[in-house]
Amino acid sequence: MKKQQLTIALSKGRILEETLPLLEAANIIPAENIFKSRKLIFDTNHDNIKFVVIRATDVPTYVEYGGADMGIAGKDVLMEHGGKGLYEPLDLEIAKCKLMVAGLTDALPVEGRMRIATKFVNIAKQYFAQQGCQVDIVKLYGAMELAPIMGLADRIVDIVDTGNTLRANGLEPMDFIANISSRLVVGQPALKMKHKQIQPIIEMMSEAVVNRREG
Ligand code: ATP
Ligand code: PRP
Repeated sequence: MKKQQLTIALSKGRILEETLPLLEAANIIPAENIFKSRKLIFDTNHDNIKFVVIRATDVPTYVEYGGADMGIAGKDVLMEHGGKGLYEPLDLEIAKCKLMVAGLTDALPVEGRMRIATKFVNIAKQYFAQQGCQVDIVKLYGAMELAPIMGLADRIVDIVDTGNTLRANGLEPMDFIANISSRLVVGQPALKMKHKQIQPIIEMMSEAVVNRREG
């Protein structure tokens, strides 16, 4: 039987470099250097497998609507999307970081409603609601650390890894929201219709994750 076409959505940006060796372990290798190309769709060493290379935040949307069968994205992006229609079979253990609430190091407790600047609007809403805390959320697209300095917000919700960006801007981490790493996701239609093709890929990538962990 002819193999079905399979499309894998990859997040461009910081996780792409760490993603490719895991796919290579599953013997899926791009036909050309992704980093040197302006293309959005890439052939691989398999006639029936293609990569689409898109913004991290668009990966769950592509997979949810079947524009791609599988994808790789950060847990932060998946949480913000909500995960509807996505099955998450594998933690790739790359791009590890934390989602935190942060504020200015000398920040006083806020009286009344806090204003929170973030690009993770849904995550922030859910987190503060769980804390029983009423907040106003301001959506930003980057450089969240600037918002408390300029008086735009009392706190931010952002990714923290080394803490260097916070420190460099006079901020400190305050509350932990979640541990983050990149995940492999599969869309519901692909899970049903392409299970035989997808399962060995998950298994081989899973082995690569273990090998990587054990050094
Ligand atoms: P977009 O281009 O869609 O705005 P982005 O700029 O947030 O996305 P990247 O900076 O490439 O995308 O980050 C991709 C993923 O890497 C994030 O979703 C997160 O899971 C993880 N990440 C972000 N910052 C760090 C960090 N400092 N250390 C480790 N992992 C990180
Ligand atoms: C991410 C995140 C923080 C920083 C945290 O930014 O938004 O600003 O990393 O890492 P640290 O704790 O090790 O300093 P990134 O470098 O991806 O830039 P961008 O999101 O603004 O593009």
